[in-house]
Amino acid sequence: MESNLVFIVGLLAILLTLVSMTKANEATHYYEFNVQEQTVTRLCKSHQILTVNGQFPGPIVEVRNGDAVTVKVTNKARYNVTIHWHGLRQMQNPWADGPEFVTQCPIRSGNSYTYRFIIQDQEGTLWWHAHSRWLRATVYGALIIHPKLGFSYPFPKPKLELPIVLGEWWTRDIVSVMQQALFSGAAPNISDALTINGQPGDLFKCSQQGTVRYTVNPGDTVLLRVINAALNQQLFFTVANHKLTVVATDAVYTKPFATDVIMVGPGQTTDVLLTANQKPGRYYMAARAYASARNAPFDNTTATAILEYKSATSRPILPPLPAYNDTNTVTAFSNQLKSPEKVNVPTKFDQSLFFAIGFGFFNCSPGPRCQGPNNTRFGASMNNVSFVLPSRVSLLQAYTNKIPNIYTTDFPPTPPVKFDYTGSVPRGLWQPIRGTKLYNLKFGSNVQIVLQDTNIFTTEDHPVHLHGYHFYVVGQGFGNFNPSSDPARFNLIDPPQRNTIDVPVGGWAAIRFVADNPGVWLMHCHIDTHLAWGFAMAFIVEDGVGLSQKLLPPPSDLPRC
Ligand code: C2O
Repeated sequence: MESNLVFIVGLLAILLTLVSMTKANEATHYYEFNVQEQTVTRLCKSHQILTVNGQFPGPIVEVRNGDAVTVKVTNKARYNVTIHWHGLRQMQNPWADGPEFVTQCPIRSGNSYTYRFIIQDQEGTLWWHAHSRWLRATVYGALIIHPKLGFSYPFPKPKLELPIVLGEWWTRDIVSVMQQALFSGAAPNISDALTINGQPGDLFKCSQQGTVRYTVNPGDTVLLRVINAALNQQLFFTVANHKLTVVATDAVYTKPFATDVIMVGPGQTTDVLLTANQKPGRYYMAARAYASARNAPFDNTTATAILEYKSATSRPILPPLPAYNDTNTVTAFSNQLKSPEKVNVPTKFDQSLFFAIGFGFFNCSPGPRCQGPNNTRFGASMNNVSFVLPSRVSLLQAYTNKIPNIYTTDFPPTPPVKFDYTGSVPRGLWQPIRGTKLYNLKFGSNVQIVLQDTNIFTTEDHPVHLHGYHFYVVGQGFGNFNPSSDPARFNLIDPPQRNTIDVPVGGWAAIRFVADNPGVWLMHCHIDTHLAWGFAMAFIVEDGVGLSQKLLPPPSDLPRC
């Protein structure tokens, strides 16, 4: 009798500990994001920028896999804003995804919206940014997901972990830069500097003081979480004299490999390990443009930060960087990206899509609003559709509330006219049509998309991002995709998984995923200029039958239009 009681009490104690352990495993984090103006000085010039909590870059959101996150965003600025959690899957919960007029209406001045989400089976480096016009030029920050308590990285724990957020700086208000471009129809002014954690580094005037420095001890291993938050620019990144070992991209682990330089497209992240095994001294980390479009102006500056061995005072060593148009280095780098082991790639698909992507030009009558090349306005398109965002209600609200005349579901699965995409494209094919065209996917369908760059005006390497998903990159190549010979070379064993794919300049990339996340999900070029010109489309992923396969109801504080 008594021993029974002891047994039961003991059992209860074990149960209670188990319960509290799971609790400890799933912490809840609360953040307050006040979007507000702040005067910032860079390159000897001050102006007001939009920030979160007055910080630039914004606060680091640091959580564990499995945690619940609540972020109350209050708009104390004069522009409408939304925040997007780039790369988070937001299962069944596009309400917390953030793109303006896609999954929500903007948070108006003086209003707030609370993003609530759970990190489900994701760990690594992601980031958050404004998803409202070009405001992400200054409104961004790192989103770091550690493994669950009791779990570790698939590599020895580094001594230090540093978020390295790369950006672009304009010495004037980004909204006026945008308005000027969208008024004239011409390309926008290029940035005045690249930045590392908000600082251009001491190669620039008036920048010595702010230059970011990190101190290491000889022998330390450091995890650099490199995030490309630049508005419009692909970037090479390197550290003088040190090898970088790539261990993850877009918050998915990769098979480790060593390299001197990485290329990160806007939206992408790359985690690298660095061991401080060189002569104690000071070494520059440096970022510079990879610019693949022909004859297009770009920011040709170099941003730096300093890695210094404890008490070293020597002059920092500048690393060599690839030439701005060194596509070979980019290809060699991306060809090495692989999943750590065999993965489950869909091999049969229900949807085989082919998207021709690139520029497009709208003819116009000469004048101040027609400053693009040869009497045109710049545009961009996917399968000849130049995407137009709704302005009265979000696509997700229109979908769930069945509001008519907001969008159509006739986004073409293949280009309406086939042509030699990467050859010389006849002018007659340069002008896209405008539309808000979506594409329906049944829940659970296996999808393949071949993204094909076009040579309309110029070919260019475009970073294409899909919201709400990770996809396998099964193949890429140059020229036109050849459906009879290219699939034979696909990697169906250990392809890397990403949320943003840099489609090779004048080439193609093939991606695959299972449509297991219901909702409305934007796919777009993560170069904000191209997005504004219409380089986007959206998928509607329909509900499945099970409870875990359906959209969650909208939160009660969802902003109204
Ligand atoms: Cu980071 Cu729709 O973007």
